[in-house]
Amino acid sequence: METNTFKIVNMIIRPFKSEDNSSLLDLEKLCPHGNESYAINADRSPDVTARYKIYNNWNLLVAEEDGKIVGSVGWTVKGQDRKYVYLAEINVHPDFQRGGIASKLLREVEENAEDADHIYCYVVEPNTAARSLFKNLGYSKIRDVKAFILSAYRKMDLDERFKIKKVDENEIPDVVNLLNSYHSNHEHFTHHSPESFKHHLNSILAYGMENFWVAKDENDILACAGLWDCSKVVESYLSKEPFMLKLMGTVYRFLGKFRKTPYLARKGERLKLVFTADHAFKNYDAMASLTAHFNNLLVDWGRNYMMTHVDPDDDLLNIIKGWPHVDTLNMFSKGNKPDSDAFYVDVRDLIP
Ligand SMILES: CC(C)(COP(=O)(O)OP(=O)(O)OC[C@H]1O[C@@H](n2cnc3c(N)ncnc32)[C@H](O)[C@@H]1OP(=O)(O)O)[C@@H](O)C(=O)NCCC(=O)NCCS
Repeated sequence: METNTFKIVNMIIRPFKSEDNSSLLDLEKLCPHGNESYAINADRSPDVTARYKIYNNWNLLVAEEDGKIVGSVGWTVKGQDRKYVYLAEINVHPDFQRGGIASKLLREVEENAEDADHIYCYVVEPNTAARSLFKNLGYSKIRDVKAFILSAYRKMDLDERFKIKKVDENEIPDVVNLLNSYHSNHEHFTHHSPESFKHHLNSILAYGMENFWVAKDENDILACAGLWDCSKVVESYLSKEPFMLKLMGTVYRFLGKFRKTPYLARKGERLKLVFTADHAFKNYDAMASLTAHFNNLLVDWGRNYMMTHVDPDDDLLNIIKGWPHVDTLNMFSKGNKPDSDAFYVDVRDLIP
């Protein structure tokens, strides 16, 4: 095992100040999520807090040793009657890892969140350091959320039985009913009213009502979902590129001289990801057509990838199972056990 030789002597943990912005951006660059062969990283410049401002509330602490920022932890409190905490990120400078800083920061969060029902976070499966950190501190793995990715490189045919359009104000009540019934048994889902749903869409940078779509027949809304260009909040990139991906990228780029091929980003290159969000449906074909429509929009916008996160019990899996499946996100939790096995996946939590 590699050991660092530093000694933590004067470490203080204090709230984030705006003057910390550039130090935290530097720290973020040094803290990819993953392992030696696969790791993802995020660029939040110019504002390191952009990732937090998509929530109603947020907290960010920094660990400082002799005036140098060596770690940070951020979280948000969610829920209405029952409060719970989403732990958004924890980073420790590589020169100061294995010195107990992350453990201290997490204990600080737990003290701050004493009244919360539970704390949860996602860890990308290859991130052995973080998985072992959370296990060590008494967190249990309760779910595996799957991330599916579609490379948008050519237009798809749409099912003509359905009309696909942006949601109108007068359709919001039906959309809310569809979402409430689709996610009714999902842990972490808060039932929407038309007002709360509009607030939810409009409070997230680069989402909003103008990016929410419905698929209908003459009478009814059969499917709905949003497209969130999360790259406007955080640009993600691979900082360690798996060998197979590198190889496939080389092959596709060669074949791309003769025909259209899926785009595979190189190490360090911005992924130009767009997330799908808040899906609900009562007709598989309508949802599949809505997904194809999203693919076509991405082609028009020049965005490379559409990413969808799903709970393993979500019916959407039956529609997108043909897409390459990239990541498994281990959901860790500490506190009270969830009431249900299946989870509503809050797409805001999945930006790296
Ligand atoms: C994960 C991370 C925050 C850990 O920070 P840290 O300050 O080194 O963690 P601690 O010193 O408190 O470690 C506590 C325990 O976690 C586990 N752990 C931490 N780093 C580990 C590693 N590289 N490999 C295996 N286990 C590790 C060990 O059980 C360790 O206890 P030990 O040192 O007594 O064996 C740090 O490696 C990091 O910043 N990584 C990059 C960013 C990241 O992945 N953040 C988490 C995203 S969910």
